Amino acid sequence: MAAKDSSASPAAHVAIIMDGNGRWAKGRGKPRLHGHKIGARRVREVVEACPDYGVRYLTLYAFSTENWKRAPSEVAGLMALFRQFIRSETAELVRQGVRVRFIGDRRPLNSKLRRMMGELEQATARNETLNLTVALNYGARDELSRAAARMAADVASGKLPEANLDADSLRPYLDTADLPDPDLVIRTSGETRISNFLLWQSAYSEFEFTPVYWPDFGRNELARILANFGSRERRFGAVLT
Ligand code: IPE
Ligand code: IPE
Ligand code: MG
Repeated sequence: MAAKDSSASPAAHVAIIMDGNGRWAKGRGKPRLHGHKIGARRVREVVEACPDYGVRYLTLYAFSTENWKRAPSEVAGLMALFRQFIRSETAELVRQGVRVRFIGDRRPLNSKLRRMMGELEQATARNETLNLTVALNYGARDELSRAAARMAADVASGKLPEANLDADSLRPYLDTADLPDPDLVIRTSGETRISNFLLWQSAYSEFEFTPVYWPDFGRNELARILANFGSRERRFGAVLT
């Protein structure tokens, strides 16, 4: 096990855009779903590593609101993989003290998957070692529009006085209401875009883009990125003296 690096300022909340499964598989002459399968296995290693580096919140982008545009067979394969992941990982997540939450719009998801997601959240609700949030059918624009609709309803009913609205008023309506903002957003696979992930929450996050495809991502690459994060100066708009 790698030693804790206490000299680096820890990234308490790390969010990862797990990208590159398809290209990883293609490079091996395998179907895209094979890449997703191996990618799902890397989640366990990264979850296990986080507490060793002082990461208390890990948020993983698993399926975007735009990913429905893919071939029906790939979408169905991914949905089956999510069910399989919950089935095979629940006991281990409970043992490791991981609290699991899901963000995104669950309504379009298959009822069996929705039930399993709810059960996993309940089974891990009292865990505190690591907060794992899985973004499934998540899109930041979708999240923001759902949040704005609920906020508008509260303004209309008088529950939320219009005069009190400020930059933080939206926060409690977001899917991430119970989570701190990410300190660090990592995207694998060499793409340098956000692809509709945590737009509001990442306003002051640091970004790291690594060429490593997600099925090759593991503890060592995470450690390298976290060490680099520790040497960055975050200013939050101020001038540091
Ligand atoms: C990320 O890998 C997984 C999901 C988006 C579900 P991709 O499937 O996007 O892999 P590439 O980008 O095509 O290589
Ligand atoms: C972002 O990856 C979504 C997830 C990792 C779940 P995509 O592969 O869907 O993003 P684009 O299409 O390259 O922007
Ligand atoms: Mg991709």
